[in-house]
Amino acid sequence: MMARFKTLDDIEVHGKRVLLRADLNVPVKDGAVTDATRIERLAPTIEALVANGAKVIVMSHFGRPKGRPDPVFSLRPLIGPLEKAIGGQKVAFAADCIGEEAKRVVAALHPGQVALLENLRFHPGEEANSPEFAQALAELGDIYVDDAFSAAHRAHASIAALAQLLPAAAGKLMEAELDALTAAFETPKRPVLALIGGAKVSTKLDLLKFLIGKVDMLAIGGAMANTLLLAEGKEVGRSLCEHDMTETARQILELAGARSCRLILPEDAVVAPELASGSVTREVAIDGVPQDAMILDIGPKTVAHIGAALEEARTLVWNGPLGAFETPPFDRATTAVAKKVSELTRSGNLLSVAGGGDTAAALVTAGVLDQLSYVSTAGGAYLEWLEGRELPGVAALMAAADR
Ligand code: 3PG
Ligand code: MG
Repeated sequence: MMARFKTLDDIEVHGKRVLLRADLNVPVKDGAVTDATRIERLAPTIEALVANGAKVIVMSHFGRPKGRPDPVFSLRPLIGPLEKAIGGQKVAFAADCIGEEAKRVVAALHPGQVALLENLRFHPGEEANSPEFAQALAELGDIYVDDAFSAAHRAHASIAALAQLLPAAAGKLMEAELDALTAAFETPKRPVLALIGGAKVSTKLDLLKFLIGKVDMLAIGGAMANTLLLAEGKEVGRSLCEHDMTETARQILELAGARSCRLILPEDAVVAPELASGSVTREVAIDGVPQDAMILDIGPKTVAHIGAALEEARTLVWNGPLGAFETPPFDRATTAVAKKVSELTRSGNLLSVAGGGDTAAALVTAGVLDQLSYVSTAGGAYLEWLEGRELPGVAALMAAADR
């Protein structure tokens, strides 16, 4: 059983200055937010704090400005989207996250008002987890609330050191993320199926090894499956794959056998001469991939096989698309599997949790983003959780609850 952390229900915030660590690291293009999911999922925490009369001080990193102020990475363009997400309430802005400017803006707040601090990473102390920088932040607040699960894999000052200096609790999004991951992973209904896609075995090595010891069935798609097929001695033509990883891939196959984790690898594939929409595609058995072709999606037999595994499973953990989903028609398998997952989830047969990198984008393409049990806002943090690693942000909240 996982140790518990405090939540908003456990803290008294009326009239208090609440330092809220958010993850406003959202995709922005030409000054406009292109995906506001993280802001929208943060909003209920701000609204709850506002409703309870807190003075809410939102802090976040944005991009990787390397420890000095850089207008390209200013959080200023996020004021509007943040105000919109919390029902049009005004958000004050401090052009520096510590020091006199920040103190001035915070001192002007009345209960129920909200301020946003400039990018934490404009100071080198943030990424260095500096106690002095954490102390400078702590001076701005009475209580610390962490709602940035998607940054919980970073041992940075606003995530780790700060949690030791003030009473600390998880925000509603952090709580939802941890509850969903715990349900899927610590105390799951079995059998558990893990569905892993994406490009490279090398980036998901630890994850695959950890999952093999933890889940009952492991289905692998995406270009990373090509490396495993190569390790099995199959012809993969001109497909994207990692030739220098075949030995490691072989070890993964062996480990699955030893741990009696049922592996589901592609048995057929959609191939084309190149990765381009409108290129001529063919469905081939996995033993019949032509030398001059590329595998760009898993085939219909594999989709059916995964579908059957999904029907058998009670819990699904998903990361990564199964084909080159950004380029139709190579989104077909990912979309078909996503629809099946949504169907089984809605009928109450499956607890489905997805997250990490391109996964949410693939679920949007399939039109089922809101039809899974839970979709994480996290990229790297979700992957590190799937690798069984302790996340500094989560550990800090647990430690704070024990104080
Ligand atoms: C993310 O977007 O994955 C988090 O905000 C962490 O950002 P980082 O990878 O720059 O630390
Ligand atoms: Mg990242």
